[in-house]
Amino acid sequence: MLARDLLDALAGGDAVSGAALARKAGVTRAAVWKQIEALRLKGVPVEAKVGGGYRLPWPTELLDGQRIRAGLAPATSAQVGMLEVHWEIDSTSSEIARRIPVLDDLAFVMAETQSAGRGRRGRPWLSPPGMNLYLSVLKRFDGGFASLSGLSLAVGVMLVRALGELGIRTAGLKWPNDVLAGNAKLAGILVELSGEYSGPCAAVIGVGLNIRLPDSVHERAGQPITDLASIVGGDPPGRNHIATVVVTELAEGLRTFERHGFAAFADEYAANDLLRDVPLRILDPRGDFEAVGEGVDERGALRVRVADGSVVTVDSAEVSVRRSAP
Ligand code: ATP
Ligand code: BTN
Repeated sequence: MLARDLLDALAGGDAVSGAALARKAGVTRAAVWKQIEALRLKGVPVEAKVGGGYRLPWPTELLDGQRIRAGLAPATSAQVGMLEVHWEIDSTSSEIARRIPVLDDLAFVMAETQSAGRGRRGRPWLSPPGMNLYLSVLKRFDGGFASLSGLSLAVGVMLVRALGELGIRTAGLKWPNDVLAGNAKLAGILVELSGEYSGPCAAVIGVGLNIRLPDSVHERAGQPITDLASIVGGDPPGRNHIATVVVTELAEGLRTFERHGFAAFADEYAANDLLRDVPLRILDPRGDFEAVGEGVDERGALRVRVADGSVVTVDSAEVSVRRSAP
């Protein structure tokens, strides 16, 4: 029995006895127990019921590539290259990066869990199975790296659109790559570029969207994080539906970005900019400083007003921004 099959058997949210799980999979109860432990180690809080049996604290839905594909509008589906769902992979972005030469444009890779999910500057992205969304997409561009400025901000707008479609209107954007809700991180965006500086190039765009976080992940994240279940205060939409909506917005948005660049997203970015007029601490390797958010420029660089009243732009990938403590 594989951990995936076990999670699938428990996905309904009802208690299932160890004997029934073993029978279904044709394995021993010891083998079931081993996989329960493996799921727990990956962060799935499988509960053991008094008198035997296991259950998840809430129902879930495993990702199904065919269902996600079938949910796409035909015109969108025609644009989307491959759409692959893995049980476990090191990182969906690494998987795309390894296959750039052979993948079609707008190829998507998703995974139920990542053993080496990463954020900016190699920080870990905690990726327990069966609860969140971890996906990456390949987008090719002809115009070189300069045509890609503002891409991670535009992807943020695409995610805000997707969340809006799912009924979530409280999410906003924290420059350069976070989607926050109620001051906590709901989703992260990782854009990695390769190819020619001024010719054909490719972006691998990774998105981690929290749908249901177990307590253990909250404890390990090191910053406030949140999920769709907390935002809606109950059961979030089904994971395959969420994936369909996110794939749709990314596929359509990335094609718009290819034609018009960040300009096509600037107004919506501004409308969702959580740093505008907010006192900030800019963590710059050349020296930290205090400033106030003044929006972003046409390239997507952050504009901030500094102590002497002048406005400077911040665009280094090395810079982090924190809201100043009140
Ligand atoms: P920056 O402002 O520099 O981007 P950041 O704290 O948002 O800083 P990132 O590298 O963008 O850092 O994202 C990685 C961080 O995200 C991790 O250090 C952790 O705090 C947090 N994190 C990890 N897993 C998750 C998750 N599943 N959901 C939300 N946040 C997570
Ligand atoms: C960040 O906030 O720094 C970005 C986090 C991006 C996480 C996603 S999960 C899918 C894809 N695969 C990864 O290893 N990272 C991105």
